[in-house]
This record gives sequence, structure tokens and C-alpha cells, in this order.
Amino acid sequence: QAYKEPHRPQIHFSPKEKWTNDPNGMVYHNGIYHLFFQYYPDSTVWGPMHWGHATSKDLVHWQQQPIALYPDSLGYIFSGSAVVDKNNTSGFGKNGKTPLVAIFTHHDPKGEKEGRNNFQNQSLAYSLDDGKSWTKYNGNPVLKSPGITDFRDPKVFWHEPQKKWIMTLATKDRITFYSSPDLKNWTKESEFGKELGAHGGVWECPDLFSLDDNGKKVWVLIVNLNPGGPNGGSATQYFIGDFNGNKFTPMDSSTRWLDYGPDEYAGITWCNTGARKIFLGWMSNWSYANVVPTATWRNAMTIPRELKIKHVGTAIHVASEPVAELNSIRLNPVALSPGARKIALPGRLDLSMDKPDNFSVTLSNDAGEEVVIGYNKEQQQFFIDRSRSGITDFQKDFAGKFVAPRFRPSGSMDLSLIIDVSSVELFADNGLTVMTAIFFPAKPFDRLRMQSAGNAPFKKLTYANCKSIWK
Ligand code: FRU
Repeated sequence: QAYKEPHRPQIHFSPKEKWTNDPNGMVYHNGIYHLFFQYYPDSTVWGPMHWGHATSKDLVHWQQQPIALYPDSLGYIFSGSAVVDKNNTSGFGKNGKTPLVAIFTHHDPKGEKEGRNNFQNQSLAYSLDDGKSWTKYNGNPVLKSPGITDFRDPKVFWHEPQKKWIMTLATKDRITFYSSPDLKNWTKESEFGKELGAHGGVWECPDLFSLDDNGKKVWVLIVNLNPGGPNGGSATQYFIGDFNGNKFTPMDSSTRWLDYGPDEYAGITWCNTGARKIFLGWMSNWSYANVVPTATWRNAMTIPRELKIKHVGTAIHVASEPVAELNSIRLNPVALSPGARKIALPGRLDLSMDKPDNFSVTLSNDAGEEVVIGYNKEQQQFFIDRSRSGITDFQKDFAGKFVAPRFRPSGSMDLSLIIDVSSVELFADNGLTVMTAIFFPAKPFDRLRMQSAGNAPFKKLTYANCKSIWK
């Protein structure tokens, strides 16, 4: 039965069956959150990409919809975005219907095989029934590769001050910005990043948006990177700065990571959500996504996270916290005390300490498998250790311990763990440090052990079982 299989996430979106990678086309429209996703409906490994589709009213419960975009003579349907074209700048609107427009990469596998350098081009599709059905534009592609092999993942938004669309595009080792009056004709504006940020791999899936910073506007540029992440393989870096409609100028040259764990990738934000910015990523890593031990489907998305600017001393960060909507599936929290107890997953653990000290939370089963999550005070690091988490031999680096820095140098600590049957997401210090990791125990984890140094006093320590979103 779908959604009841071993390791099937119970509070995360995953397709009913078959392969998924990146989230695509995330757009909020008429009370519905749309989530499209890289999808291969014929297999549980990556292949000719389609856009799968799911919808939600609350960012928690998802309904899978018919496939939105199929591959065609121009190629596979790679990652991209979707916008609400309120002013009908594209002219796709008919009879007063507002068009939703998807901007995606056409990846031509023939061109790639023949060794050409222009096999990734940007194309359009539109919907006049609020996202139910999609028609590809007959003038595709609208932005042709100038001879750059990695030329993909367009994220588009409306730039109100200059009344034009801005496309943020991943172009190999940098970001290229384009603008357009109508989504069909694109002009290059500028490039960013060749000499900045992490470059251990190719730049993919970017996003550019503004956030409020105490009444000021700051701009955030997300750049996904594969490989070269802080804990190996693929990961999401970001820059903070200013965007004037033509050019992105970073405030400084630091490399920042939105999630330090091994299993958040290709994350971007929903468009058309007003002042709120909601982020979601693919909950896997290209190092092993094709071989994780699930049978009928492969891979899931992270929970949606709300992004906010936070200052710590003179440093500035983008913090991520679980969206408040997730509280609706949380059952009554029970107080935990140090020691072991039986628990049921999925669930959420919340703790706070006035004087942070070493602690660990161990999830385990009676097969001796475990995942250990905690904080090391001396090193000022959070960690997730999945070395003995069950099935790990499908890839040599999967069994490992992953660490992330603490950014709040002193003072109280708060931490939440969103624990599903095969994943944990850690949010510390109001989302300043985030880590996501997946795991595959041979038997479900059903025990939780809380350990802390000395008599590290928890001001708060609770666990709440969560209802499955699939019932
Ligand atoms: C990122 C990515 C994108 C591409 C898509 C193909 O994970 O490689 O750059 O559009 O996946 O499925």
C-alpha cells in the first residue's frame, strides 16, 4: 500500500511511486501551494525528466496531481520556476484568465551525446486553468545557450521598480541574470560569482529574492552546488547583498550554507507568497540518491521552512524555521527526562537550555541500530551521526558523522528536531544552524535516549508524536 512502505516519509512529500529530485515551479496561487518536481514516472532511478505536480492548501498535506510537463522533441524537462503573470505580459492570458507561466530548462540528450555545448535552453509553458493543465509555448526555446554546457534552472520573479521579469540562471561556475518585459524575449544583465563562494562543483538551481531586515530590504541569492558541500556532495550556499534590477552586489565574501547536513539540495523558495518566504529542498544528495534502499519510490522533499534575516553581533544570516502550519499535525507534547523511553515516529523534539552544554539524542531500535544527534560544547558544533544507522552499505560515505557550527556564541540555546521514519531535520538557535540527514534502519526506530553532560538543565524538553500526512 502506497505511503505505508518501510522508510516511507510520513510528514514529508514524496511521490506515490518512482523517482524524484529537485522541487520545481513552486508558486502560490488562489489559496493553493503548487509543488512541481523533477520526476521520472517509469523508474526509481534518474532518467528522462518530467515535471510531476502536487498541491497543498496548508504546506503540510499534499495531493499528487497528473504530470504537468512531459519531455518532447526539444528534450527533457529540467528544473525551473513558475510565476503568476498578473498583467498578462506574456499575452498567454485569454478571456481574462490570468496565466501561470512555467520557465524551465529543455535538456536535449542528443546534443549532449554528440558533444555539443548548447543542449540546455530555456523554455515556457502556460496554464489557463490555475495550474491543472499546461501548454508548451510554440516559440520554445526562448533563451538559447550561448555555448555553455551547464546553462539551466531558471528562477524568475517580477521586479516591480523596473517593471520587468528577472531570470536568475545557473551558468556553470557563475550566475547570469537576464531580464524580460514579456517572459519571451530575454536580455543579459550581468554575471555574479565566478570568484566568490564555494566552487567544488557546478552551480545549479539558484534563487534571488528580498527579505525584510528591520524595515530595510536585503537581497538573498541562493546557489545550489554539486559537489562541494560542507559535508560532502550537494548542498545549498547563499549570499546576502543588494540587487538593483541589473546586478547583485554581495555585502561580503563569506560562503554561507542554508543547511549543513548531507541531505538538503536544490532548495529554492515559493513565489507569490507576499512578505513570507518559504523554502523547500530535495531531501537527498547526488552522492547516493540513485541507490538509497527504497523499493517503490526514491527520494522526498524536506519540510517547508520559513526564511528570515537574523543578526548575531555583526554577522548576518538567513535563518530557517519549520513553517508554523506543521503544528497542525503535532499531537500533545510530553515532557522528556534524561534517560531512555519508547517513542513513536514521526515526531518532533523541542528543547531549550539557558546554559548550553553537551547533549545527545539517540534514536534506536532493538536491532542495535541508531542515529545520534547532539551538541558538542567544546567544539561549538552540532552533529548528526548515522554511522550505525542500519542500511548504509549502498554508498561508501553514507555511514558518517556530520557537523555544523553554532553561530550564537553564548547565551541560551533552543533546538527542534523534526524526526520522520527515515530523516531528521535539526533547527538550532531559531534556525541559525540547520542540518538535514536521511537514514534507513532495518527496523523502525522506536526508542529515544536523552543524555546530557553534568546536570545540564533543560529549560524545556518535550517530544510530540505527529500525525501522518497521508492518512
Ligand atoms: C539539480 C539538477 C539540475 C537539473 C536537474 C536535472 O539537482 O542537476 O541542475 O535541472 O537536477 O534533473
